[in-house]
Amino acid sequence: MPLVTMRQLLDEAAKGGYGVGAFNVNNMEQIQAILAAAKETKSPVIIQASRGARKYAEDLYLFHLILAASELNPEIPIAMHLDHGNGFETCKSAIELGYTSVMMDGSLKEDGKTPTTFEENVAITKKVVDFAHERGVTVEGEIGVLGGVEDGHGAGGSGLEHVTDPDQAVEFAERTGVDALAIAIGTSHGAYKFTKKPDGSVLKMDILIDIHKRLPHTHLVMHGSSSVPKDLQDVINQYGGKLKQTWGVPVEEIQLGIRNGVRKINVDTDNRLAITGAIRKVFAETPEKFDPRDYMKPAREAMQKVVAQRMTQFGQAGHAGDYKQLPISEFVAGYASGKYDARPSAKK
Ligand code: G3H
Ligand code: 13P
Ligand code: ZN
Repeated sequence: MPLVTMRQLLDEAAKGGYGVGAFNVNNMEQIQAILAAAKETKSPVIIQASRGARKYAEDLYLFHLILAASELNPEIPIAMHLDHGNGFETCKSAIELGYTSVMMDGSLKEDGKTPTTFEENVAITKKVVDFAHERGVTVEGEIGVLGGVEDGHGAGGSGLEHVTDPDQAVEFAERTGVDALAIAIGTSHGAYKFTKKPDGSVLKMDILIDIHKRLPHTHLVMHGSSSVPKDLQDVINQYGGKLKQTWGVPVEEIQLGIRNGVRKINVDTDNRLAITGAIRKVFAETPEKFDPRDYMKPAREAMQKVVAQRMTQFGQAGHAGDYKQLPISEFVAGYASGKYDARPSAKK
């Protein structure tokens, strides 16, 4: 199946009442791990690349690797998504290359660090929405700011400093027309999200539920959604790593989110942990080995295991065959006619 738009994939998820994992990739093995898990669990999937990933792998390598994944697995609906686009040109370049979805993260300035004003966020996001929708491409926006810094991206802080204001979320969705909306509810990127198992004082699921009530037709997105399981931390530390004990977002909280409008769940760190643990294990147990395949294969398998588990937990498992890909021209026409207008006023 050719690549699908993220809008189609999320609309189907909303119909089916499940969430879809959006997994970050930087190289071939991560893409293969995701597809192996998708085949194993019969799941539709979102593969996403950050600016850092596009730079690391070089744009064309990554793009063609993801295309290869879709050619080799025609039964799996795959959306190719830009994660945390920092400006119009970044989003435009992904759209022109052939990504079927982009995130315009206008919550931060182009430096990827400084929070923007609400008006700045609306203006840049709307500009990307206009450009993308004319071409049938899906847009995710972000209102509120996540905590932490990943690969130089992020405002830092605990995750509670810029939690999304529900009134602003509604106005933002109305004025931009985004298809999907990332909100800040206390999570951060990376491994160090919480210093103990999070409760309602640090993970604001009540805000998410409130936003969904007010924006029932906008697909919500949870960033920073790795669960940072203890067993993955332990493998790394057992084989010479030095991670401090930390807590991520419990899967049951993500499932609560899915019951309340969350359709896209971003996971990167858990896969990074799985890969690193597997490689450390090979290095520690068989230090005589030097063929990269000897450690990349177990790394790939470790990531496949995590991704397959998340696909089952998010509910996307078993849904790969539910629908056929709609051509991008359907979305070009559908946005022009208002069929895909997700603004609150359009749905009243
Ligand atoms: O946004 C966070 C993702 O984990 C991507 O991270 O910017 O280091 O590629 P990255
Ligand atoms: P994690 O660091 O929790 O995996 O979050 C990834 C993410 O939100 C990518 O945009
Ligand atoms: Zn993110």
